[in-house]
Amino acid sequence: RIIVTAGPTREPFDPVRFITNYSSGKMGYALAVMAARRGAEVVLISGPSSLPVPPGMDFISVGSALEMRDAVMSCLAAATVIVKAAAVADYRPAVRAENKLKKKQGPLVLPLERNPDIIAEIGAVKGDRILVGFAMESENLLANAKAKLFAKNMDLIVANDLHQTGAGFQCDTNIIKILDPRGGIEEVPLMDKLDIAGRILDRVKVLIDERKC
Ligand code: C5P
Repeated sequence: RIIVTAGPTREPFDPVRFITNYSSGKMGYALAVMAARRGAEVVLISGPSSLPVPPGMDFISVGSALEMRDAVMSCLAAATVIVKAAAVADYRPAVRAENKLKKKQGPLVLPLERNPDIIAEIGAVKGDRILVGFAMESENLLANAKAKLFAKNMDLIVANDLHQTGAGFQCDTNIIKILDPRGGIEEVPLMDKLDIAGRILDRVKVLIDERKC
């Protein structure tokens, strides 16, 4: 049973406005579809995305990072694999106004507070579950990805470089590097996100087989 998170989160500051990012959900949905094709029971937990809900899986729609955390934690006990492809907002507006904010003279200052780091929370309690995260960086990709892999107790981290054409947010393709805690770095060249998903799941399968021994 695999949990896949996908898409952006929305962090509202009044009833009609929010902070978000450019994540489309494509990488996470491709992972969920591929895992279902390979026989996994899939729970796809998705932030707002224009993609159609894929058939053959449980689907949980969430808005904010706090909602995503609640959804993930409520499914965690039954899962053996968790893949966190969602682009979770690191900060949320500290206050959510009850009414639409009116414009005034001068700048508007919105204080932000930290969101929970969902994958780090899973990493702290995961037991022998397999935890896969993503790192999208605009600088020092490998060093940052490696630091996150260890800091958040992941089993694999998928690194994408924001500067490469054909990689990252919105694209139908991706170019990735898969890092593991033993220092291994697998370079996966430009390919469709469904094929990228297959390559990530191949690595998950190896870990599942190792743990069965
Ligand atoms: O934001 P960051 O680069 O640290 O994200 C790395 C991984 O952590 C991703 O897999 C992302 O889904 C996860 N993450 C999370 N909760 C956050 C921020 C990131 O689960 N608040």
